Amino acid sequence: MKKFLLSGLTLWIGSSVLGSGALAQGGGARVYVAYCQGCHQAGGQGNKGIFPPLNKYVPKILAAKGGRQYLANIMIGGLQGPIQVSGVKYNQVMPAFSQLNDADLAGLLNYISTSWDNKFPKGQKTYTADEIKAARVKKPNAQTNYKARPKTLK
Ligand code: HEC
Repeated sequence: MKKFLLSGLTLWIGSSVLGSGALAQGGGARVYVAYCQGCHQAGGQGNKGIFPPLNKYVPKILAAKGGRQYLANIMIGGLQGPIQVSGVKYNQVMPAFSQLNDADLAGLLNYISTSWDNKFPKGQKTYTADEIKAARVKKPNAQTNYKARPKTLK
């Protein structure tokens, strides 16, 4: 009995310590599992025609003109409108995640930019919390993001 109580307590302390700050760097995996994986899947493979893949695709967004900023903006404001990803059509709603803090969103973006087969394009550094903070100023939403989507992505 005592043992159960103790391990429960350890879990509770563990999760509250990890709750926010620890997500800052390297915690992107946890944010991904909690907020993205349900749609984009554990291996980032997505679901053809419904949820676009992130594996082998995020680097293309990062490399597109304005793409790095766009990627941060869709985390904050979501995305809505018909798009094409690697020749496949999608037209659903990507929710906004502005409720997550700057450090968590930066960690998340670094996670999806470096997981599976993905890596940052040459010369691009990891996202910082400050970069996310700056992106919030313009209050991007699903419509402004749709308009600003790099035209080379299709
Ligand atoms: C409820 C399902 C859902 C969740 C949860 C979700 N997405 Fe999406 N995501 C979508 C859909 C749907 C689209 C395509 C939107 C469209 O058709 O306009 C999309 C598009 C994307 C794109 C590609 C945008 C483009 O222009 O090609 C990226 C990158 C992305 N999501 C990342 C994420 C990340 C990271 C998370 C976790 C914070 C996440 N998504 C959570 C449904 C989801």
